[in-house]
Amino acid sequence: MNNALAQLITRDGYHTLIAGQTGSGKSVLINNIMTALLGTLPAVDAFVLVDPKRVELARYKPLARVERFATEPADIINALDTVIITMERRYADMERRGLTLYDGPRVWLIIDELADLMTVSRPAVLPRLQRIAQLGRAAKITLIAATQAPARKILPAELVLNIPQRIALHCDTAIESRQIIGAPGAELLPRHGYCLRKAPGEPVTTYAVPLTDETELNARIAAELRYIRPSAARSAPKPKPSKLYRLGQWLCDALRAPL
Ligand SMILES: Nc1ncnc2c1ncn2[C@@H]1O[C@H](COP(=O)(O)OP(=O)(O)O)[C@@H](O)[C@H]1O
Ligand SMILES: [Mg+2]
Repeated sequence: MNNALAQLITRDGYHTLIAGQTGSGKSVLINNIMTALLGTLPAVDAFVLVDPKRVELARYKPLARVERFATEPADIINALDTVIITMERRYADMERRGLTLYDGPRVWLIIDELADLMTVSRPAVLPRLQRIAQLGRAAKITLIAATQAPARKILPAELVLNIPQRIALHCDTAIESRQIIGAPGAELLPRHGYCLRKAPGEPVTTYAVPLTDETELNARIAAELRYIRPSAARSAPKPKPSKLYRLGQWLCDALRAPL
């Protein structure tokens, strides 16, 4: 396994923007990230997956931890609203308990092809994403979005500024590279296989991007499919024993008791 980059990207729960030309490996990197996250069993992180292209993330749809899998614009808006409601509930809960960082499982909101989505439904999508990017971190809600090299008119600077970790794969121009990581360089990367990463407090650094290890990913998906969510099991109310059951118990105890 050679998935250190994906582990690094997901380690601190930073919102993350992955940008690059078509074919530069955005979806490959997202699948590497899913491989890393699905390797963290039995943690109970949840996923909300947004896949306007309908193909890249489809294989995760049946997993118990995938709470929403959205492909259509209306459904995507709805999924974003679900995330916002979860976020607001968490803030209320944190306030009640005097917490500054939520102590439950992380929600990973993963969006492939954000630019496509913005072209179709920007007025609905942008304010929701902005809210999640601004407030999500303390509520342990992490946004990971992949997009083609982000023209400013598609991805406004205010949104990008609220996404502290940026990954630039190969892009067309130095200007695009600058829009992603604040420096030129991504235009000089090979067509795929390498990225520049900028994270808070770290200099821009080059990393190799491995192709997804499909054997490992499939094994992790298979393990997930056998997996019952501990959180769901724990929160399910215990059935109250019926009168008859209690009578039976009493009889058993009575019979077992020494005479
Ligand atoms: N890290 C990589 N190493 C080798 N080939 C890669 C890598 N990333 C992408 N490719 C090649 O490029 C193709 C397109 O990658 P993909 O992730 O779908 O690009 P994007 O989502 O940016 O359009 C892959 O199917 C693969 O053939
Ligand atoms: Mg893609």
